[in-house]
Amino acid sequence: MLGQVLLAASGSGVVRRFVSAFPLTKRAVERFVAGEAVQDVRDTVERLRDARLAVTVDHLGEETRDARAAEDTADAYLTLLDALRPLQLGRGGEVSVKLSAIGQRLDDAMALEHAREICAAAAANGSTVTLDMENHTTVDSTLGILRKLREDYPATGVAIQAYLFRSEEDCRDLAAEGSRVRLVKGAYREPVTVAHQGRAAVDKAYVRCLRVLMAGKGYPMVATHDDRMISITELLADRFGRAIGDHEFQMLYGIRTDLQEALAGAGHTVRVYVPYGDDWYGYFMRRLAERPANVAFFLRALGGK
Ligand code: FDA
Repeated sequence: MLGQVLLAASGSGVVRRFVSAFPLTKRAVERFVAGEAVQDVRDTVERLRDARLAVTVDHLGEETRDARAAEDTADAYLTLLDALRPLQLGRGGEVSVKLSAIGQRLDDAMALEHAREICAAAAANGSTVTLDMENHTTVDSTLGILRKLREDYPATGVAIQAYLFRSEEDCRDLAAEGSRVRLVKGAYREPVTVAHQGRAAVDKAYVRCLRVLMAGKGYPMVATHDDRMISITELLADRFGRAIGDHEFQMLYGIRTDLQEALAGAGHTVRVYVPYGDDWYGYFMRRLAERPANVAFFLRALGGK
């Protein structure tokens, strides 16, 4: 219930202004966001790399209907990739892109053009791009843009949200040689007509999608902090003869750091999703919604503790 309220608030301009106005909000946001400047994220990436964790870096921002803002976001990715080059992340380094931040709401062609520029800059660094998945109205467009990007940049990945009814089928389509799919449970408020509701139904859907990906020929990127999903991944890897380097785990910056380090210590590739930038509101609210205990943490931070 509280989660649903927070997800509704994540799309509200009024609540955004109210929450963003508290100077102390910053302290709570820092738990989930690496900072506002490129230098902040560079330091974080360096620290994670030293802890043997791979990264996917996200320049925060979403849902623009302004062509200039879309261009600015694409430019921010080029600056970011330039700044990360000296760290020589190579194939271990990746950026995550929300197409709605680079023009998808205005025109698919604009988002595709900006995404191509970002993929080209990533390829020049020896790194890759994964497309985040946003609300269900964007899925067809995102998968269409993915197909076009993969013609020139075949390693481009995409997130698939297990809670959508359509996703098992999408996983089947994507479980082919060379494809990289990040499986997530799904973080948006979706109607009963398109998505499973409630934890048990979403978890079952996640396992069905996971099975398809692990049995397939692509590279599954298992993005979850859920111990049960991680154990099931290990069982499925065993069953389908997938070696430790044939799939990876992904987790969000600031969440279950202990588990990230433990899995990396056991030899798994663990990729941390590292967001940075000043447009943190939507991302931060979705993290609060996932776990009501985070609201208490947020309120304590507002109180200065
Ligand atoms: P679940 O929510 O069941 O949590 C399992 C356990 O993890 C909890 O019991 C708790 O211990 C811990 N946990 C989970 N969330 C937490 C939080 N916010 N704070 C503290 N602890 C928490 N979604 C989407 O719609 N599109 C996308 O593109 C992406 N991309 C993405 C990338 C990566 C790398 C990850 C890890 C996740 C995403 N997501 C996403 C978010 C995803 O859909 C989902 O909302 C979260 O991962 C939470 O789901 P879990 O699988 O962790 O399970």
